[in-house]
Amino acid sequence: LDSTEANLIMTAWNKVKTQESDILYAIFKTYPDIQNKFPQFTGKDLDSIKGSAAFAVHATRIVSFMTQVFGLFGHDGTEPAMKTLMNEMGQNHKGRGVTKAQFNEFRTAFMTYMKSHSPFGDNVQTAFNKAFDTMYYVIFENL
Ligand code: HEM
Repeated sequence: LDSTEANLIMTAWNKVKTQESDILYAIFKTYPDIQNKFPQFTGKDLDSIKGSAAFAVHATRIVSFMTQVFGLFGHDGTEPAMKTLMNEMGQNHKGRGVTKAQFNEFRTAFMTYMKSHSPFGDNVQTAFNKAFDTMYYVIFENL
């Protein structure tokens, strides 16, 4: 990604990144199989766990991680750091039995959320597609 694309991502992301619990809620709502991979949330009613501390903690973890990763795009020399982060998360998630199909579900739900909560043109879409392709290429080698 070039710096223009990286900036488009950050501008869109900055508009939604404080909505941690709403983002995770939207993902779980559309794909309950993702929710059910979390031992502390398995089989629970989504609306009743949404306000819990455990839910907020996990939502914040994911959002902070994404902020960290998106921040690496568009800068020289960040490729090794990106690869290391993605390999680690691929290994962690493989250990939890998370599948490629679930990662793709996450991507779909995440993009749907972004589109409806931040100004979104074709150029922003293209930049996010490149970012996810880059991230998932490394993650999927681990699954
Ligand atoms: C941790 C599941 C995708 C970021 C976890 C945990 C589970 C999980 C079960 C452990 C939670 C705990 O012990 O409290 C899933 C499933 C996914 C998915 C089913 C389906 C696609 C993602 C994605 C990201 C992400 C796409 C970020 C881009 C994290 C982070 C942690 C975590 C940062 C905490 C650090 C760690 O323990 O690895 N995930 N995850 N996850 N997940 Fe995911």
